[in-house]
Amino acid sequence: MKARTPLLAVVALALAFGACSDESLSPVGGATGVDRGGGQLLHTISTRLPLDQREDATAALERDAFRRESRFLDAVSPGHLFQSTRVDEAAIEAGAWTHDELYQLGGQLFNFTFTPEVGFGAKDLPAYGRFQTGRRGGPDAPRCATCHWRGGPAGAGDAADNAYLQGDGNSQSSALARNPISLAGAGLVEIVAAEMSVELAAARSLLAAQARSSGKAARGDLVAKGISFGKLTVRPDGSVDASEIVGIDPDLVVKPFGWKGNVATVRAMVEDELLLHHGMESDFLVAEGDPARVGSFGGVDPDGDHVTSEITEGQVTALTLFVAMQEAPAELTSDTSEQTLLTAKGRALMKTLGCASCHVSSLPLSTTTFTLASRGGGARVTVDLAREGAEPRILPDEVSGAFRVFLFSDLKRHDVGKALAETRPDRGAPASQFLTRPLWGVARSRPYLHDARAAQLEDAILLHGGEAQKARDAYAALPDIDRGAVRLMLTTLTRSPRMVTQ
Ligand code: HEC
Ligand code: HEC
Repeated sequence: MKARTPLLAVVALALAFGACSDESLSPVGGATGVDRGGGQLLHTISTRLPLDQREDATAALERDAFRRESRFLDAVSPGHLFQSTRVDEAAIEAGAWTHDELYQLGGQLFNFTFTPEVGFGAKDLPAYGRFQTGRRGGPDAPRCATCHWRGGPAGAGDAADNAYLQGDGNSQSSALARNPISLAGAGLVEIVAAEMSVELAAARSLLAAQARSSGKAARGDLVAKGISFGKLTVRPDGSVDASEIVGIDPDLVVKPFGWKGNVATVRAMVEDELLLHHGMESDFLVAEGDPARVGSFGGVDPDGDHVTSEITEGQVTALTLFVAMQEAPAELTSDTSEQTLLTAKGRALMKTLGCASCHVSSLPLSTTTFTLASRGGGARVTVDLAREGAEPRILPDEVSGAFRVFLFSDLKRHDVGKALAETRPDRGAPASQFLTRPLWGVARSRPYLHDARAAQLEDAILLHGGEAQKARDAYAALPDIDRGAVRLMLTTLTRSPRMVTQ
């Protein structure tokens, strides 16, 4: 098989299972004349793909050497690595750091082992909690990379990496079991969703204007990038009837993150993850001061662990950019005509079976610029993922020059039946509704479904119910060879190979 976007050779490179830090060793000086506000690059996490296997292997060994060296450094001076990530937000907004450098700093944080000295955990939570306590979290893991590793750096997680959210701190049955999601392509996902939200807001404004000028309620379709979100009625006084909205919250904001599709931005997700899994409270969440989130000890140390300013705004920004700038998942095409034919058949079947009504193969993108709005009143950070993201990057269509994300999702929530339903709704999403899981990269994110209950693609497909029952039954009724074609097609949705040492 060889790659379509971008060029890949399917070689027997052991793709990352285990330690997956994405750094290579290369001390960085970087005197810029601008005050860089505290942070320090200890090594280079490259956004570029090595050109050949030898270079790839060298980079993997360098990353391993770096990990060993940082363990030595931290043994001598604990917290050394963490201190190096404490970049100042004002310096970031003043342009003191390049986007590539922020990616590297974010990568340092993503692979950092959080300890009580830097703020891990909370006074009133267990040292480790397998089942989380409400919206306070576990803490349940020492590093982001503990759970996000499968299929490559910042990847998915295995079933044993499941997080058990919003529980009573003691029992699995009280919590919502969720499998870690691969972060490849996350920045692009946010951009598509944000563009859809803008379209939906425009539709609402138009209806509001019609209702005002006619003095009668105006009812119209909610459509974004060709995806229907039902209908909206706006009354002359500006109030809305949201009862016909489908697959999205009444605020009409497309929320593409989390299995339930209830988080809108990478930054909100990153901040939540720091808190839930590590008890690392950002300055922003502490300032908001919601005791249900940050703890009830009040003041500047609401989790009572005697560490203040656990995560600065600059660190949130660096980690957010690291996630948002992750590579785009890759799609492989076959060398052999037999496989090409079968993959094409699988693709066609996804349409005729009805899978593609939810797993929409691609959505258009008007911009590839990821925007991180400033919360401190400074400038915004904007990154062009087509030029600066980690490789492989999104590529324009060769003929039209336009960009599309080959996501295999409509970014909408659907009822997938009682068998998959959770015990209760979660932040606006009903118990049996889940976001149409984007299928790009799916070949590298086993096990499947929100709680990892499906070990194989076949199981995942057959467990669909509810709105997907018809498509599932049509799939089940196919002869083996045709089901195989669908599975083969899904297996071409992957990530570019790279070497990782353990
Ligand atoms: C204990 C395992 C675990 C750890 C540790 C962890 N995550 Fe996650 N991550 C998850 C799970 C589970 C989900 C899905 C959550 C959901 O559906 O509500 C997720 C989802 C995400 C998402 C959203 C992806 C998407 O496309 O929906 C981002 C971004 C993310 N994590 C970033 C991070 C960062 C950054 C860290 C470290 C600060 C981190 N995670 C640590 C388990 C983990
Ligand atoms: C009504 C919308 C809908 C239809 C139709 C549909 N799916 Fe899905 N699909 C979903 C949702 C929602 C999920 C996530 C379920 C969960 O979180 O447990 C999902 C999950 C998946 C997964 C697991 C992905 C992962 O990373 O865990 C695969 C594979 C999949 N679908 C393939 C298919 C195939 C093949 C078909 C056609 C036979 C199909 N789907 C039809 C909505 C749909």
